[in-house]
Amino acid sequence: MGPVTAPLRLALAGPAEREQIYRLRHAIYAVELGQHRPTPEGRLTDALDPTNDYLVALNGSTVVGFVSITPPSAGRWSLEKYLDRDRLPIRPGESVFEIRLLTVPGGARGGRMAAVLMAAALHRVRVAGGDRVIGMGRREVLGMYRRAGLRPVGLPVTSGAVHYEVMTASVAELVAAAAGHPGVTAALTAAVWDVAGVPAPTADWCSPEPSTATEPVGTDDGCFHGGAFFAAIGEDFADLDRRHGVVNADVLDAWFPPAPGVLDAVSAHLPWLLHTSPPTGASGLVAAVARAWSVPPAAVLPGAGSSALIYLAFGRWLTAASRVLLPDPSYGEYAHVLERVIGCQVDRYPLHRNDCYDLDAADFVRRAARYDLAVLVNPNSPTGRLVDTAELRTALAELPASTRIWIDETYLRYAQAADATPGLPVAHHLGSVAPFAAASSSVFVVTSLSKAYALSGARVAHLVGPPEAIAELRRWSPPWAVGLPTQVAAVRALEDPDYYQRRWQRTAVLRHRLADGLTALGLDVVPGVANFLLAHLPSSGPTAADLVSRAAAHRVFLRDVTSMGTVLGERAVRVAVKDEDGLARILSVVQTVFTDRETPARRR
Ligand SMILES: Cc1ncc(COP(=O)(O)O)c(C=O)c1O
Repeated sequence: MGPVTAPLRLALAGPAEREQIYRLRHAIYAVELGQHRPTPEGRLTDALDPTNDYLVALNGSTVVGFVSITPPSAGRWSLEKYLDRDRLPIRPGESVFEIRLLTVPGGARGGRMAAVLMAAALHRVRVAGGDRVIGMGRREVLGMYRRAGLRPVGLPVTSGAVHYEVMTASVAELVAAAAGHPGVTAALTAAVWDVAGVPAPTADWCSPEPSTATEPVGTDDGCFHGGAFFAAIGEDFADLDRRHGVVNADVLDAWFPPAPGVLDAVSAHLPWLLHTSPPTGASGLVAAVARAWSVPPAAVLPGAGSSALIYLAFGRWLTAASRVLLPDPSYGEYAHVLERVIGCQVDRYPLHRNDCYDLDAADFVRRAARYDLAVLVNPNSPTGRLVDTAELRTALAELPASTRIWIDETYLRYAQAADATPGLPVAHHLGSVAPFAAASSSVFVVTSLSKAYALSGARVAHLVGPPEAIAELRRWSPPWAVGLPTQVAAVRALEDPDYYQRRWQRTAVLRHRLADGLTALGLDVVPGVANFLLAHLPSSGPTAADLVSRAAAHRVFLRDVTSMGTVLGERAVRVAVKDEDGLARILSVVQTVFTDRETPARRR
């Protein structure tokens, strides 16, 4: 099949187009992907075809792409061939449409045809009064579905040799996502629209319906980070004493306070620290980081949290045409900034529960060589699993200079302490990759001081990498990027390694206690090495969403991590390590939720 030459036409398939579709389905889903056994007739149909609508993209009379829409009136979804209705997070209803079989044959791939067909299908669903879409996305192209606004619900489906994820989104969410892709809208509205009974989409087709509801600020387009506990305190800070009694195990803040030297310096000089301009480039902080991580100051870029550094660097390095490799599951901000802010292609490197979600460093780095960037969180969140850093350095030595690797060592101090022999240097296999990065041509290590140095509220982190690349990023870093109280706090913190070493070691003890407690309650705990644990809930009890919402009613906040990967399922929770009292509260609330038979689990 050749490239599209005539003006693209979007239409509903009639008998001639359907015949082409059935043959293309056979060529792609049976022969190319191995989902179905090839048939002697060379065509594939199924029981839903009589009730499905097929939207087709036509180049002349040739089908160059299609997508199927199953209306609610069909009474069932194709998905139900693979999963019992009871397992699906959505019930078939008046206004839920299934979108399936989004297909672009070989010659027309690589452009935005699939995105245009998705947008066309969304327009059709919206005009028909739909308020939600459900479907299965092939794992290899999840990035495209995510860019369109669909989200995996944690239900993988395997059909023949093909792996899918069940995905869903409300029509309002899809419309909001579409508004972020003007190129797709331009292609959609430039096409000849020939869909009977559906008015052609106009240039403002993805404007949201006017609404009088007041949305909370900043909740619709950001990455969800946990932090729900702040609702219990009040974001107007009217009564900060409300923080007492709240257990915020949904975020990974340290359970201990910053070192005494930090508190002394900040409290003794607070009025001056608040009204004085800080050193512009935080040179004192850079020097302290350089000493603590054994790297040259020229290799260090400080920032207001690692989030600021992620947005700064990725925004400079990547475009919508870039390709990035990301472990699955991993810290959600990475997928968010890559897919929803930059809009580039993200391929997942799946980690498996059977392997404790461990990652094979050599294989990951080998795969990374085909990408513009690969991201590795070590230890990973939400799994808490560590890649041996000596193995990682060996693998990185083979990396071509054209591939950047971004290693996030935010939780590495916890792993080092758990294993450390007092008085001896950190073992080689746990040493930071930062010195390697400083001497490399394309390896970068970001480290937040939020979690290990108890400075989450202060917002401070640093990036270490090749000095020339760091110098380029420094030009784009605003002056005074790190506030003065924060610069002082971070420098003082790095002056007291003994205090933190004791706290990190204590964290390991508390983490074991938390693991034992959760295991005794029937959870399957992944043996993590950081200041949190990932645990899978038993299949007979509540889902993670149920547990999290019921625990919140007791002011204990846990994190449902379903959305942090496509492989975690709906029963994975992440729990931060807290002090003894906090742990006791967490365990008692989890137990209460498990044994509370009065309120049945809320169905999602
Ligand atoms: C792996 C990882 N990196 C970075 C961050 C954010 O750190 P910061 O507070 O420095 O923005 C988090 C926060 O949860 C994280 O889990």
